[in-house]
Amino acid sequence: MNFLSKETTAAYLDAGVWGSKAIKEAKLFGNVKVVASSKETHYDRIPDSYAVPDDAVYFHYTTNNTIEGTQMHAIPAVNIPLVADMSSDILSRQMDFNRFDFIYAGAQKNIGAAGVNLVVANKGFLEKGNTGIPSMMEYRQHVANGSMLNTPPVFAIYVCLLTLRWLKSIGGVAAMEMINDKKASLLYNTLESLPVFHLPVAPQDRSLMNAVFTMKDPVLEASFLQACKEEGMVGVKGHRSVGGFRISLYNALPLSSVETLTALMKHFASKHG
Ligand SMILES: Cc1ncc(COP(=O)(O)O)c(C=O)c1O
Repeated sequence: MNFLSKETTAAYLDAGVWGSKAIKEAKLFGNVKVVASSKETHYDRIPDSYAVPDDAVYFHYTTNNTIEGTQMHAIPAVNIPLVADMSSDILSRQMDFNRFDFIYAGAQKNIGAAGVNLVVANKGFLEKGNTGIPSMMEYRQHVANGSMLNTPPVFAIYVCLLTLRWLKSIGGVAAMEMINDKKASLLYNTLESLPVFHLPVAPQDRSLMNAVFTMKDPVLEASFLQACKEEGMVGVKGHRSVGGFRISLYNALPLSSVETLTALMKHFASKHG
């Protein structure tokens, strides 16, 4: 709504449910060129060869596909403004934020509580944005009003402050990245070593935030879920749209939780393998 119009075209990468929802919404406001899609293979990978047209007004992609468990490990090289939905991996790893013209991220994964949305914008890009849209939807108006165009959700913002202070106290994003790498390696290595589990995602595109897996024998899924429940582990079920299992490794999850889960996986595999 801010950057696209009926006379212009924006380029989008379709690598997951959230990206495809962004495409659907963008089509309400202008022309959309989908440069590549992995929909046909159930979004089990990030499309790897595509060309982004230089005359598009921006290129939009999702850095981490929360539901499907894929992640873009490199920032795409494009000649046009780069726009990213970083909702599910912001602050989980170091990134060159200067490469982006517009970043948005819901706070509820790695920043704080639901109700807050982080937006980082290149001022020059923002200045070129559309006018004549509702004030509440116009990013420039939020900037002009110091993010207080309407009543801010103060408690949710306070939770963000506490979370960011905690992140700083442990050494910031660099330290967090090392912990996240350890968590993801432990989990993926364990899953790979146990033939009872199946990893559907292309190895090079595996997400360090959301590990998705299924059981080779689907009959065992209910018993695995039950085993997790008995040990007090909840939230391991995959998103309702894809099934299987999904372990979210957001910043707040300690390495010890992954150690406990992988021990359970090994025990389960020894009984059912
Ligand atoms: C990558 C991504 N984008 C967008 C959303 C939607 O966020 P919200 O529910 O805050 O609108 C989510 C939610 O999980 C997400 O993971």
